[in-house]
Amino acid sequence: MSLRPYIVGNWKMHGTRAMLSEARAIDRAAQRHMKVEVALAPPYTLIHPVHREAEQIGVGAQDCHDADGGAHTGDISAAMIADAGAKFVILGHSERRQDHNEKDAIVRAKAESALAAGLRIIVCCGESEATRDSGRAVSFVKKQLKASLPERIDNALEKLTIAYEPIWAIGTGKTATVEDIAEMHGEIRALLIALYGEEHGSEVRILYGGSVKPENAAEILSTAQVGGALVGGASLTADSFMGIALAAGETDEG
Ligand code: 13P
Repeated sequence: MSLRPYIVGNWKMHGTRAMLSEARAIDRAAQRHMKVEVALAPPYTLIHPVHREAEQIGVGAQDCHDADGGAHTGDISAAMIADAGAKFVILGHSERRQDHNEKDAIVRAKAESALAAGLRIIVCCGESEATRDSGRAVSFVKKQLKASLPERIDNALEKLTIAYEPIWAIGTGKTATVEDIAEMHGEIRALLIALYGEEHGSEVRILYGGSVKPENAAEILSTAQVGGALVGGASLTADSFMGIALAAGETDEG
């Protein structure tokens, strides 16, 4: 069984209620593109409003705390985002790793907490430009991902998605070459199979992220082992985001 392409918009720190009209337009368009699974991770403040409006798309968060609750001023738990209507959470994004000094161990703890709250998780990995230039991108990403994944997930593997996002491609207009994407996704697939076995490890979707646009989406999404895209800038308008979803639908055999 092969899962539908998964196209996830990460709005990052963009969006006030004025942007709900875009979310509505994305949701309406997604209802016409059922071959593709479309989801949106708005900022925390818009999770519940988008959830209330959305009939088709999945709504998620961009992060959560690893604790269930307690004295953590300004933080939000997995149970809280689930209560607001989130069905998934993005974890270990390179901007969290950079801006908040998040290490693999904390990403793992968040992943375990999110699964315990019943959420699906998108665990991010990706190398810096210096690491890519040094020729160590594959070993770096595999080590980072292995250490960021939950320790035990065997009974919740259908809740796991991976996102490979080379840091140097995020918001820069640069994308990795199709050959590099194929190589990295193939290596990540091999890691997932080694960790979870052939049957389960081959079903986990691996998204590519980093300057995905309607113009380059078809090529990227038809690359081996690419199960969808994690989209930043181009997810902010329904037109460009659904252009990517449309390209994803066309790569599907159906
Ligand atoms: P851009 O699509 O803006 O490059 O962002 C990618 C990203 O970081 C998605 O999580």
